Amino acid sequence: MNFTTLNIFFVAVFAFLALIHAHPVSLISRDVYVPEILTPIAGDTWVIGNTESVTWNVSSPPAQITNPVGQILLRKGNLTQNVTLAGNFSILAGNVSFIVPSVTPDDDYSVVLFGDSGNFSPIFSIVANTSNAL
Ligand SMILES: *[C@@H]1O[C@H](CO)[C@@H](O)[C@H](O)[C@H]1NC(C)=O
Ligand SMILES: *[C@@H]1O[C@H](CO)[C@@H](O)[C@H](O)[C@H]1NC(C)=O
Ligand SMILES: *[C@@H]1O[C@H](CO)[C@@H](O)[C@H](O)[C@H]1NC(C)=O
Ligand SMILES: *[C@@H]1O[C@H](CO)[C@@H](O)[C@H](O)[C@H]1NC(C)=O
Ligand SMILES: *[C@@H]1O[C@H](CO)[C@@H](O)[C@H](O)[C@H]1NC(C)=O
Ligand SMILES: *[C@@H]1O[C@H](CO)[C@@H](O)[C@H](O)[C@H]1NC(C)=O
Repeated sequence: MNFTTLNIFFVAVFAFLALIHAHPVSLISRDVYVPEILTPIAGDTWVIGNTESVTWNVSSPPAQITNPVGQILLRKGNLTQNVTLAGNFSILAGNVSFIVPSVTPDDDYSVVLFGDSGNFSPIFSIVANTSNAL
């Protein structure tokens, strides 16, 4: 690459990063690595304060992965929340654990796994620790 193509390359990269930053959910390109989320499954229940995990299928990753660093955000309804459940893990790890944060208990949560792009899990519930109420 000469200087000009390198410049164009970086402009393109930054434009892309700005785009995924502004629209993390809507940008789903089909030629990037979007591993399938295996758990949580539909109807699961997470208890606030409990350690839970997200697992995904890493059986056939492509040779080239644009962004190997993963991040998992919480989604409620169709809106991705500003709640990072886990970050800075390898997208090839296949699983990551974290403590469920104190969010509003509800039955319309899902998670978004970001690496090259974002992939949603099915809908599950987050409930309060009922032992606290006793
Ligand atoms: C739930 O609350 C009880 C009582 O405060 C506590 O002992 C227990 O560790 C809590 N469980 C979780 C998952 O936070
Ligand atoms: C993982 O993906 C592979 C194909 O890429 C498929 O054969 C396999 O069944 C999947 N595993 C699970 C647990 O879904
Ligand atoms: C998101 O969900 C709300 C309420 O269910 C709905 O009104 C809205 O059209 C949905 N937006 C998209 C982009 O699906
Ligand atoms: C997201 O949350 C972080 C802290 O958790 C905060 O610093 C940041 O400003 C928030 N961003 C938005 C867009 O709300
Ligand atoms: C991310 O992980 C790498 C290697 O595991 C580590 O060197 C780096 O400091 C971490 N960065 C952050 C922001 O935690
Ligand atoms: C989680 O990932 C590690 C490698 O990162 C693997 O050794 C372990 O078996 C995985 N556990 C589950 C439950 O998938």
